[in-house]
Amino acid sequence: MKTPPSLQALIEEGVIDEVLRPLKSGKEAAVYVVRAGNEVRCAKVFKDMGHRSFQKRVQYQEGRKSRGSRETRAVASGSRYGRKQQEDEWKNAEVDALFQLRAAGVRVPEPYSFLHGVLVMELITDANDFAAPRLAEVELTPEKAREFHAILVREVVRMLCCGLIHGDLSAYNVLVGPEGPVVIDFPQVVSAAGNNAARTMLLRDVNNLTATLGRWAPELLDTWYGEEMWAIFEAGQLQPDTPLTGEFTFDEHTVDLDGVRDAIEDARQVALIRQQGREAQDDED
Ligand SMILES: Nc1ncnc2c1ncn2[C@@H]1O[C@H](COP(=O)(O)OP(=O)(O)O)[C@@H](O)[C@H]1O
Ligand SMILES: [Mg+2]
Repeated sequence: MKTPPSLQALIEEGVIDEVLRPLKSGKEAAVYVVRAGNEVRCAKVFKDMGHRSFQKRVQYQEGRKSRGSRETRAVASGSRYGRKQQEDEWKNAEVDALFQLRAAGVRVPEPYSFLHGVLVMELITDANDFAAPRLAEVELTPEKAREFHAILVREVVRMLCCGLIHGDLSAYNVLVGPEGPVVIDFPQVVSAAGNNAARTMLLRDVNNLTATLGRWAPELLDTWYGEEMWAIFEAGQLQPDTPLTGEFTFDEHTVDLDGVRDAIEDARQVALIRQQGREAQDDED
């Protein structure tokens, strides 16, 4: 295909040799299948952040360490340099997270390079070498759904042990490879320690997974893995291999149980609505 302008510089610098085809273009990024030597990879081109609400960025970036005081001041002042800095941080956050999570043994695409705002990474494929489907697009047996749920809950635990929460974990950001699920799409990754919204985001991420996989294995809907792992994490005792039961006893003296269940049901509804919105958006693409 004709090389998109955003990828021209990477070809000139020999990072990639050819753009094979577009894979997916959404509001935030366009992903292409590319060739680098004999390898087929994918290139994620980040779009401008103009449309993102400032609020969302502030929530996400709270707790994310800025690299130096000049950057911190520039971001705070909202100057053009600050804006550029903030966009770069957004893009870098995904690359940083991929390297960190790979090192911790979490199954995410291997990052190869990050140049000119383009992330070149491993293309996750299915058993026939086609781009892997998303979790939202596959049919599962109850056994597979339970297996994927167990794997993904463990991945969330491993991320939390790295101090990271995905922040947008849904059936659209999990690919189904031949060896099981692979989590993608990390620009909004949040710090588990420094962010007020961390617990809420963790519970939302786990609820999204549970709601999706609970369609195939309804007994999963009665599990409380997010609450359980957060309590152990907060107590400073969460390890990558800490066994979890999915059971969680809310403190009935301080917590209104019905209220909590309603809030979680609300979160599940929100996940469903967001999913439907994305499906509608995907249909437009
Ligand atoms: N490493 C990858 N391997 C295979 N497909 C990918 C990969 N990264 C992204 N994709 C495809 O591109 C889509 C968009 O990528 P994603 O990182 O989720 O960005 P966004 O959702 O912000 O547009 C994904 O849903 C997936 O279908
Ligand atoms: Mg995505």
